[in-house]
Amino acid sequence: MSEIIKKPRGTSDYLFNDAEVFEEVRNSLLTLAKKYGCFYIMVPTYEEGKLFHRTAGESSDIVAKETFDIIRKGDKDYTLRPEFTAGINRAIIENKLYASPDMPLRISYFGPAFRYDRPQKGRLREFNQFGVEFIDTTLDINTIIDCLIFSYNAVKKITNKDVKVKLNYLGSFASREEYKEELKKYFAKKIDSMCDDCKRRLEVNPLRILDCKVKEDQLIASKAPKINDYLNKEDSVRFKQITQVLDKLKINYEIDSQLVRGLDYYTGLVWEIYSIDDESQIALGGGGQYSSLSKDIGGPPLDGIGFSLGIERLLLTMSKEIKSSIDIVIIDNKKDASIFDIVSTLREEGFSLSIVSASRSLQGGLKMADRLNASYAIIVDEENYKIKKLDTREQIEVDKKGLLKYFSEVSHA
Ligand code: HAM
Repeated sequence: MSEIIKKPRGTSDYLFNDAEVFEEVRNSLLTLAKKYGCFYIMVPTYEEGKLFHRTAGESSDIVAKETFDIIRKGDKDYTLRPEFTAGINRAIIENKLYASPDMPLRISYFGPAFRYDRPQKGRLREFNQFGVEFIDTTLDINTIIDCLIFSYNAVKKITNKDVKVKLNYLGSFASREEYKEELKKYFAKKIDSMCDDCKRRLEVNPLRILDCKVKEDQLIASKAPKINDYLNKEDSVRFKQITQVLDKLKINYEIDSQLVRGLDYYTGLVWEIYSIDDESQIALGGGGQYSSLSKDIGGPPLDGIGFSLGIERLLLTMSKEIKSSIDIVIIDNKKDASIFDIVSTLREEGFSLSIVSASRSLQGGLKMADRLNASYAIIVDEENYKIKKLDTREQIEVDKKGLLKYFSEVSHA
């Protein structure tokens, strides 16, 4: 026998109900995005590698170590998208969407992303994201708050759980450079006892050390200087404005001065969303502002803010089961392929319909109809049709005209 081929580690098969729940979550999120004024766009699952690998000294693990890079095809390197933000901004620039007079642009997206990470609960190599990007020449406070509130409400609505936002404010490049210098001085004294990744981070971007997952390093990082002490006046005022609105709206948030996020492009507000009763504390979504991404990938100066939610993590958190069902199951005792005129008419009337395998007995067919959660079975005999209502087990016998009349009445009831 040939070897059974299994799916790659860190990927998922969505079967039956799971696939239906997935689709329902997708539809709810995209419908919600419309309420926030978003237009849906689709971008490729892979892009030129340099879109993601932009800088030589890249410090984000996602981009430096976890991308699926496709072996050179022709004269280009390609990379499966580890996230959407870079691709969406590339599409905005390439299609000149920024020339719209209707700013901010509000764009939504949904689809798979790929990261070569160590698979574990809630951490996959192929996973799906829903997200939005709001783009303007200069972002105003309304756009920033609307985006943050959207992410919070979306997670609450989908999971039906209490959720919490962790916030931080990374400030402008100038104030951050000063902060990085201070961090460098602080960590330089401790670095000998820290992990190899932190040693590399100290050289490339000491901010990243704040995000280290090693327990001992986290303890050292928790005592590092805080970014809030290095924000300029304008940034401090804006951060305060944001938290005041959140207080007013009774949004559950907490300021986490160690939150730096896993990607390098952030400036200004950053946040992550968690379910309150999730012990493992994995982020269901995250986002933030960015002010130089567009310029870095060859576009005009544009400000952006956005967030992405991990669909698989939402599915793990929510407690919802959809029992899929079908309207009609046909048990064809004649087995002469004469059923297709009624099959077509019933489907045109809007009924979902499946046909039992000819190898099944009548009893077997009825059991299958029950398992499929069907409302009706139609048993096709030599002369007539029996319609069985599966909840009450009532059965009537009709001719073809009677059958079509019966279901026409059901569909208009
Ligand atoms: P991110 O925090 O890297 O941000 O990912 C967003 C969400 O995607 C995470 O909170 C998590 O729910 C999900 N996720 C990430 N990695 C995995 C994984 N390996 N397995 C399962 N789920 C995962 C971004 O991707 C940014 N592009 C968000 C953003 C949009 N910032 C600005 N605009």
